[in-house]
Amino acid sequence: GSTLREAAADQGRFAGVAVNDSMLSNSQYANLVAQEFSSVTAENVMKWESIQPSQGQFNWAGGDRLVNFAQQNNQKVYGHTLVWHSQMPDWLENGNFSAAQLRQITNDHISQVVGRYAGDIERWDVVNEAFNEDGTRRQSKWQQTIGDGYIAEAFQAAHAADPSAKLFINDYNIEGINAKSDGLYNLVQGLLQQGVPIHGVGFQTHLILGQVPGSFQQNLQRFADLGLEVVITEVDIRMQMPSDSAKLQQQASDYEAVTEACLAVSACSGITVWGLRDGDSWVPDVFDGYGAPLLFDDNYQKKPAYDSMLAAL
Ligand code: XIL
Repeated sequence: GSTLREAAADQGRFAGVAVNDSMLSNSQYANLVAQEFSSVTAENVMKWESIQPSQGQFNWAGGDRLVNFAQQNNQKVYGHTLVWHSQMPDWLENGNFSAAQLRQITNDHISQVVGRYAGDIERWDVVNEAFNEDGTRRQSKWQQTIGDGYIAEAFQAAHAADPSAKLFINDYNIEGINAKSDGLYNLVQGLLQQGVPIHGVGFQTHLILGQVPGSFQQNLQRFADLGLEVVITEVDIRMQMPSDSAKLQQQASDYEAVTEACLAVSACSGITVWGLRDGDSWVPDVFDGYGAPLLFDDNYQKKPAYDSMLAAL
C-alpha cells in the first residue's frame, strides 16, 4: 500500500492516530488523518474531565465530532478512556465519596459514555494506568475507595453498556517483560479466570530513542497466548532536542522494530501513534528537553520514521 492505512489493511491490521480536537477544523490536518489512518483515538475529548465536567452534565461535542469524522472517512474509533487517575474533573478528584457512591458514579459514567457510542466505538480503554512501576496497584481514587475489585466492576459496567465493544486495559512501561507487565499479566489472567469481560491489553509505547525493549514481541505474545487481543495504543519515540539526521535514522529503525513486534504477533490488531505532527505532541510539555517523537514534521512532511513504518507494514 502507499499509505499507512492501506499497508496496515493488507496485513489485516489498523493504523491509528490520536486526534487533537482543535485541529480537526484545519483541512490539511484533517485530510492527512483521513488519508493515512484507519483508526482514530481522541487525544483528550473522551476523558472524564472533558466528557463529564460537572456531575451529571455530559459534554458530547468533541466525542461526537470525532465519531462523525471517523464515519465520514471509513475509520474505526478507539475509545479512550473511562477510569483513569489523571484528567479527572475537580468534582470527582476532590469529592469525598463512599465506596458505594464512587461505584455508582463510575457505573453511571461508563454506562452513559459507552452507551452513547455503542456500535460506533469498537474498542475502549476501560481502565488506564492502574499499575505502579513495581507491579503493585496504583493508589488511585478507585483503588483507595473501592479496592482491588474496581477493575472487574468497570469492565462489567462497560460490557453491559455495549456487549459488542472490545474492552481493554491500557498502560505504559509494559512493553517489555518487567515487574510492571508481570503485575498486569497476573491481573488479566485472574480476570479471565473469573469470567470478567476483558478482551485486550493496550501497550501505550511512549519510548525513548534507541530503547525499544528487546522482549517486546515476546511480551505481546504472552498476553496474546491468554486469548487476548493486543494493540499498540499510543506510540511515540522521543529524542533529546535538537534533532539531527542520525537521531531521525535511529527513530526510523525504532518505529520499524515496534511495527515488526506487532506484525509478528497475529493477535496484535493495530498500531496507533500518539499525535500527527511533532508539534502536536504532548512530549515537549512533559519530558523536558525531548521532542520530535512522531511520523510527520510540523509542515505535514513525512519523516524517515514514516517511511520505515510504511516499509515494515
Ligand atoms: C496526554 C495528551 O496527549 C495531552 O494532550 C494531555 O494534556 C495529557 O494526556 N497516557 C495516556 C494519554 O493514556 O491519555 C496521555 O495523553 C498520554 C499518556
